Amino acid sequence: MAPGMTYPILRRAKVVRTPTAREAAETACRLIVERVTAKPDLVLGLATGRSQLDVYRGLVAAHRAGDVSFARACSFNLDEYIGLPPSHPASFHAYMNKNFFDLVDLPSDRSRVPDGLANDPNEEARCYEMSITEAGGIDLQLLGIGVNGHIGFNEPGSSETAGTRVATLSAATRSANQRDFADGEAVPEQAITMGIATILAAREIVMVATGLAKRDAVRRALDRKVSSDCPASFLQHHPFVTLICDAEAFPD
Ligand code: F6R
Repeated sequence: MAPGMTYPILRRAKVVRTPTAREAAETACRLIVERVTAKPDLVLGLATGRSQLDVYRGLVAAHRAGDVSFARACSFNLDEYIGLPPSHPASFHAYMNKNFFDLVDLPSDRSRVPDGLANDPNEEARCYEMSITEAGGIDLQLLGIGVNGHIGFNEPGSSETAGTRVATLSAATRSANQRDFADGEAVPEQAITMGIATILAAREIVMVATGLAKRDAVRRALDRKVSSDCPASFLQHHPFVTLICDAEAFPD
């Protein structure tokens, strides 16, 4: 397969394969800029994680160059740990502030992250789902993929029909995310996450998967067998998915 090309894959998803992770991020960034330019009041679904860092760097650079404005857009993040305040450096809210929200013109009252400190996390999840609906639904959802095939914090075994809810993190995910926490500090056991159904309701989905560690999850996501064993495989039921991979995650 030639690098940087687009491949029609199973059913309606397509894969764009780039030589490097940097180029995968640049591809995702260009796509997002294009969509926000075409529809300035775009409703964005956002993800955190290492795979997205260069995407946000690119979006911030494009904003600083005057190539894109988020002033009329709004955003909903996929997930947040229960028990972490936005001031905690490992919270997804802190990640978003540091890498995106504080650096672009997206209005703070229209950039939402689930409240990890809500008194009633189940109620927070219900309200979050309702806010997405009230905003008109997500136009473009950005996703990463976990080594176990999770999307958001929808771990293996998650139902395709689940909405935003409280989810328990798998041991694999907690161990992968330990790197964001101080030595000896435990990764929270639960999070509020958009459900698979919330994600599938987005009008367009862009997933960025880079690095060798993601190769098996990507292979299972594209496998003909759609199964809750690999929650990302449910994306095959969506009509408009672009999976952007580097050569390590999607080999020849
Ligand atoms: C983050 C999220 C997760 C990550 C996934 C990959 O908001 O929902 O599903 O996208 O764990 O994380 P990285 O990119 O750090 O490998």
